[in-house]
Amino acid sequence: MGWVGVDRHCQVVSRDTAMAQIHWLSVHWQVDVPASGHYLWWDDQGLSLKSAAFDFRSGVRVDFVEGTQARRIKAVTGEPLTRAMGCQKGLRPAIFDATAGLGGDLSVLANIGCAVCAVERQPVVAALLRDALRRAEDSNADWCERVQLQCADSLDLISHVSHGVVYIDPMFPKDRKSAPSLSMQVLHSLGGTTEQPERLIDAALDSGAARVVVKRPIKADFLAGRVPSSQVMGKTVRFDLYPRRKLTDEDAYPHQGLIDG
Ligand SMILES: C[S@@+](CC[C@H](N)C(=O)[O-])C[C@H]1O[C@@H](n2cnc3c(N)ncnc32)[C@H](O)[C@@H]1O
Repeated sequence: MGWVGVDRHCQVVSRDTAMAQIHWLSVHWQVDVPASGHYLWWDDQGLSLKSAAFDFRSGVRVDFVEGTQARRIKAVTGEPLTRAMGCQKGLRPAIFDATAGLGGDLSVLANIGCAVCAVERQPVVAALLRDALRRAEDSNADWCERVQLQCADSLDLISHVSHGVVYIDPMFPKDRKSAPSLSMQVLHSLGGTTEQPERLIDAALDSGAARVVVKRPIKADFLAGRVPSSQVMGKTVRFDLYPRRKLTDEDAYPHQGLIDG
């Protein structure tokens, strides 16, 4: 089924350039805003996702150049995420991000020098991320060169992985006490949940990765009951570590042939 896209200014030249990178999504562009449902929105800020159920001014757009995520990327020194990945003493393992989402974590990791194979199976989420990477590339964010994004199910790829680290950040349960952000609400409503996370972690543990890292809410049970060897604690989340072998400099080079760009 195709998606409705609204482009009031019919900026076909730049829009077509952007959408050429988002080959997995079929969009019927129109001028009118639909009365119901989610729709893509194109303007001079790039691609975003809006919902007729929310205020028209709000929407989900990923921005690595300005705003909160840009500040997080620039500020990173030793956040728990990078420690969990084993980034220390110049070691920058290649990461297979099996649940790329809106790219918050992978942009931090790529910025500090990790090659990242990012896989997101929800086509609209992958499209928002792809467009944010395009805009960041246009702003000369050189970390984007280290990111390769695929819209696919990680379960179909993970057995081929020989990256240093497989990173899994499953969608958190909906009933957390804090109100979910608009982007989280939209991710949930698009069906961006992690079904069968036990299959994902078991496949990761069977892959050629040196280490599997799972992000969890700080008080949550272990994913699929798999007990980690150690943990890195953050303020609201923790990272469960499942080492398979020692990470070395050789783990900085991702397996070739897995990624089609
Ligand atoms: C919590 S979000 C990840 C957030 C991400 N770490 C970030 O920093 O923005 C989980 C994402 O994983 C995706 N996902 C779940 N299972 C997947 C699978 N088997 N393959 C690829 N993506 C998957 C969902 O569609 C969702 O977008």
